Amino acid sequence: MLQTTLNQKLFEFLRQSTSPFHAARTMARMLREAGFEQLFEDQRWSLQPEQRYFVLRDQASLIAFTLAGPDSLTAAYRMLGTHTDSPGLLLKPRPDISANDFAQTGVEIYGSPLLSTWFDRDLSLAGRMTGLDSQGQLVSHLVDIQRPVLMIPSLAIHLDRNLERSAGPDRQKHLTPIFSQNSTHDEHSFYQWLLTETAEETKSIPLESILNTSLFCYDPQPPALFGAHDEFISGARLDNQLSCFVAALALTQAQTRQNRLLICSNHEEVGSTSRSGADSSFLQAIMARIIPDQTDRQCCLNRSLLISLDNAHAVHPNHSDRHDPSHQPQLNQGPVIKHNAGQRYATSDLSAALIKQLARGANIKTQDFVMRNDLACGSTIGPRLSAQLGIRTADIGAPTLAMHSIRETTGSQDPLQLYQLIHHFLIRDQLPTIAH
Ligand code: CO
Repeated sequence: MLQTTLNQKLFEFLRQSTSPFHAARTMARMLREAGFEQLFEDQRWSLQPEQRYFVLRDQASLIAFTLAGPDSLTAAYRMLGTHTDSPGLLLKPRPDISANDFAQTGVEIYGSPLLSTWFDRDLSLAGRMTGLDSQGQLVSHLVDIQRPVLMIPSLAIHLDRNLERSAGPDRQKHLTPIFSQNSTHDEHSFYQWLLTETAEETKSIPLESILNTSLFCYDPQPPALFGAHDEFISGARLDNQLSCFVAALALTQAQTRQNRLLICSNHEEVGSTSRSGADSSFLQAIMARIIPDQTDRQCCLNRSLLISLDNAHAVHPNHSDRHDPSHQPQLNQGPVIKHNAGQRYATSDLSAALIKQLARGANIKTQDFVMRNDLACGSTIGPRLSAQLGIRTADIGAPTLAMHSIRETTGSQDPLQLYQLIHHFLIRDQLPTIAH
């Protein structure tokens, strides 16, 4: 696949995936178009060899899998893992706030966003609304306002004492976006406005019947190429929707009949413990349905390999001292294998060797990352899934600058290089193995 085609598809994916729910829906659409059949966890399944399936949990996590022929149903699985959520600001259950003639919307901090980057940006809203329709049935709708409606203005430099700014924003007081002016907005109920604005998506929910929402602020500025020669990509939610897109695309494009599985979990940015997070029963429950016999399942998982995909820290030219001198991944120089002695990444010496062997076979360069000893290391869904399932796992990802900013940067060749490695992993004849 050509780099420009892939990047255009990535940009379209990012534009459509403005919340974890939307990311799951975008992937479900890609899978359906590629012939995957949707299954539901509250029903019995009758799985057939050589077929392709997917299942959603809470509309925000997704597992897709393809089955080999009838003789190979317990053969090794090639697994990919990503997360659908991104750090940001989530509307509080009762968002209406009023101050100094401003109507404002209260927000909670979701995960660890780089808060300074959320100021003075056009913000829109996307997520899920749940209520009762006119028949009294509980219904949920995904909504996306798409246009700028909120803003968190900075305090003017003339009104700020340096001491206050250097300490960073007050997380309770300084993050509340402005939404309207009370004097121009008679009915300043936020929900009233929201229903009018989303009438097409939610027409069946009357105002008094909204029960709850899960709405994320996001920056509607579309992703872009930049640099003298378009060397770079900037965009929102590259962590980890770049990986979601690459993995879903690679799975839909792998045509041969093999055992493959993709898991995209919600709630990674807040620790993964939830019904739809990587610490949930989701993957174990699905594997138990695919291979009901426990011993067969254990043998299969022991033969399998999981590549956990999440972005990696590229070296920053203004802050290169924040990287270990010998481990400074660069943009456009290949997927990064992430190592951590403390097991915050699931990569082991053996799984790293498997990835390097795969990369050689696909003629792709890789880079290695370890955190400096004097900085705390982030994590991914890799260690959780590896521990739960006993599956050999490696953590890799596209090199990225400004991780957790409202707008992150990666190299324009990085999505393709990651895709080529993953695609090779999914389609090569034999999964590389290591002696017991
Ligand atoms: Co991430």
